[in-house]
Amino acid sequence: MPGFELFGDSERKELQDVLDNGVLMRYGFDGMRNGHWKAKELEKALQDKLQVNHAQLVSSGTAAVSVALATAGIGAGDEVIMPTFTFVASFEAIMMLGAIPILVDIDDTLTLDPKAVEDAITNKTKAIMPVHMCGSMANLHALQDICNKHSLILIEDSSQATGATYNGKPLGSIGDLGCLSLDFVKIITAGEGGAVLTNNEAFYRHADHYSDHGHDHVGNDRGAETHPFLGYNFRISELHAAVGLAQLRRLDEFVAIQKKNYSIIREALSHIPQVTFRTVPEGGEESYSFLSFFLLDLETSRKVIQAFKENGIDACWNYYDNNWHYIRKWEHLKTLKTLYPLSMEVKEGLEYLKSQTFEQSDHYIGRNISCLIKLSWTEEEVRERAKKMVKAITSVLK
Ligand SMILES: Cc1ncc(COP(=O)(O)O)c(C=O)c1O
Repeated sequence: MPGFELFGDSERKELQDVLDNGVLMRYGFDGMRNGHWKAKELEKALQDKLQVNHAQLVSSGTAAVSVALATAGIGAGDEVIMPTFTFVASFEAIMMLGAIPILVDIDDTLTLDPKAVEDAITNKTKAIMPVHMCGSMANLHALQDICNKHSLILIEDSSQATGATYNGKPLGSIGDLGCLSLDFVKIITAGEGGAVLTNNEAFYRHADHYSDHGHDHVGNDRGAETHPFLGYNFRISELHAAVGLAQLRRLDEFVAIQKKNYSIIREALSHIPQVTFRTVPEGGEESYSFLSFFLLDLETSRKVIQAFKENGIDACWNYYDNNWHYIRKWEHLKTLKTLYPLSMEVKEGLEYLKSQTFEQSDHYIGRNISCLIKLSWTEEEVRERAKKMVKAITSVLK
């Protein structure tokens, strides 16, 4: 997945441009910057590439989720539905605003199960946030229907699936708001960074102001700007935006390499009858950044992971006991370990996590193995890897 694997001359050139110019901040300094606006340029390029009217760059993918929620007016005591399989950033970003993450089961897409989502809706629910994990997507059609029926906001977190599409549209451009991460291990990287995507003019204006202390960005005297509402600092720097710009131009190249490598491995594994692949919703096309498949049960998956390790096959995970990505190991969330007091609303709102179990998610995550698809492999290396994977899986299945 990581664009950093192919960090090269084009990234260095954009970065050097900022260094030569000397303005490292995205706002102000109009006289000094001699027309260099890398963040603005990247926002325009994201709009074009991801087919949205507005893109607002921010400092991280986590910030993008918080900013997206804030732009839609989601805050204290509001409930946001999110999946059990994601990254810790999802609940962090929700809780930062005093809102309550409501975790629900995933299905064989490895993302939100629409039925579980519908069951979790209460009169406090304000948004549904599918997280398009490991290069593929949630059933957005079903989730859009639920949002329309209950007047909820749909926020896509496409941090792990930039370059994937659903019914021909880029992920992140389909919901009311989309969020993406440009951190160092994403398909395209800025080093650190993120973006909020939307077609909603008001949400965009909110994101633009909120991510820069509430500044209204009117005129060219930063000191004279007013604050229509309170904000925070989630700004990206020109240095990060410059790298992101060079990487975005290479997105199609990266996806094409991933698709080629993914297809070779998938074809090899498809001859093993006990291997089934993750469901990609109808109309969806993955970014091919991971190959995700299911085995018979948790025990088989664990043995296969072990066999992969012993045979030098790196970057494959079973997430059942993973600290970062799956509910089972989020003790700090379940026991609410924070540095500061939480509101009663949030404490009470998260009580359910002390007793609720997620058997359906355990069923899919327990049986799943997701393997990163690297950009730097040669075709020979991919074929060799595929052969070794087949051998390791069949040795466990014997
Ligand atoms: C699905 C998902 N959302 C959000 C984030 C947060 O992104 P960042 O590291 O840029 O804050 C990540 C990072 O791994 C992620 O995987």
